[in-house]
Amino acid sequence: MTVDDRFVRDFRETQEEQLGTPTEIITGPVSDWATDFSHLEPEWAADPYPILDDLRVRCPIAHTDRFGGGWLPTRYEDIAAVAYDTERFSSRAIIMGNYRPPKELAPVGAVPPISSDPPFHHDARKLLLPAFTKKEVAKREEATRAFCHSLIDSLEGLEVVDAARDYAQHIPMRVIADMMGFPPEDGPRFRQFVENALEGVNLPLEERMAHSAELFDYLLEQIRDHVANPRDDLTTYLIDAELHGRKLEPSHVAGTLALLLIAGIDTTWSAIGASLWHLAKTPADRERLVAEPELLPTAIEEFLRAYAPVTMARLVKQDMHWRGVDMKAEDWVLLSFPAANRDPAQFDRADEVIIDREINRHVAFGLGIHRCVGSHLARMELRVALEVWLERVPVFSLADPSAVKWAVGQVRGPRTLPLRIG
Ligand code: HEM
Repeated sequence: MTVDDRFVRDFRETQEEQLGTPTEIITGPVSDWATDFSHLEPEWAADPYPILDDLRVRCPIAHTDRFGGGWLPTRYEDIAAVAYDTERFSSRAIIMGNYRPPKELAPVGAVPPISSDPPFHHDARKLLLPAFTKKEVAKREEATRAFCHSLIDSLEGLEVVDAARDYAQHIPMRVIADMMGFPPEDGPRFRQFVENALEGVNLPLEERMAHSAELFDYLLEQIRDHVANPRDDLTTYLIDAELHGRKLEPSHVAGTLALLLIAGIDTTWSAIGASLWHLAKTPADRERLVAEPELLPTAIEEFLRAYAPVTMARLVKQDMHWRGVDMKAEDWVLLSFPAANRDPAQFDRADEVIIDREINRHVAFGLGIHRCVGSHLARMELRVALEVWLERVPVFSLADPSAVKWAVGQVRGPRTLPLRIG
């Protein structure tokens, strides 16, 4: 069987399986966040923190009938308990929407290792670790810095720029394209894939299938090219990798590539954008970081805590009474690391951004077996992006606060961020 036969057949079969059973699509304004929450509504995208703070006091584990039923814990201790409990909460699907993939997809899931449960998860994750060590990441710092400088060069002479579109998004796109050996000029396509995967979750089944087919067709093109021309990158590594004495299933290779493409871009783009947004509206913090650049690593941890971009989901494995609520098998649990990071029971002055905060055990990168594989890479990109920006553009402010637009869905960051730099 040719590579094409193997991959195409396996992709088509798993794509159809993955979407599973649809539930009723309910949209529109939320009546009460305690009983009808939705992370896809504009009010949530604009500012979820007052909603989360209110729920933490009033109804710490909120519920919704949307998406076929789901829960939203808002206290740190409950979020941590779910993240550590892989016996009762499955990662078979991690994007809360109107389709649940069939149970047979466990323990691998569509995009291993983030969609995998034990025991498979351990080995799928282990495959990725060598590419993301601190040492490997450090090798990419120089090229990342040069790329950030080239982006700032292209802003020269402008008074107002969109820091999300013209700066933040390009940095992780370039880094991940280099690591995977994908053409760097495909950035606009990556953006589309990210939006489809994370923001288009309330679309009808046919549209979602069409989106997923576009992504997998693109990945297939890249895989074909790498089979014909093997090289020293993550794609060739995954095509050649073995698990338990056998090559990876084609759907595993493609699923992991899809995961890295999405997880590698949207998250860091959001974190860079949110940090610049904070500095643009807080001159005292901006001036202090320009004067004391050595404070940047500490400030970055605080930006990650205060504006944690990533929320993941789980599926409840069986009916159970859990911490005061009656969960049903197949209910979603939205695992809000942003809510955990703002819990006053865990952090002093949780709602304030303190750029020299000394003790900061935030959970922006998650907790437990799925903790982020790319955290060293993300931290390097974030540090270099902010270092270069502050060195080259030390004075900047929000050009129009009402024009700032945040992404809806489970990865939150500014998608439009007009800054006055001239
Ligand atoms: C600021 C940027 C980032 C944040 C805040 C972030 C956050 C997270 C979080 C919260 C999880 C846990 C998910 C869960 O429990 O279900 C996770 C997992 C993961 N992240 Fe990141 N991430 C970032 C950047 C990256 C980058 C740059 C990459 C790689 C290119 C990456 C790759 C992954 C992978 C592969 C997993 C799955 C790990 C597993 O299931 O064992 N992330 N990330």
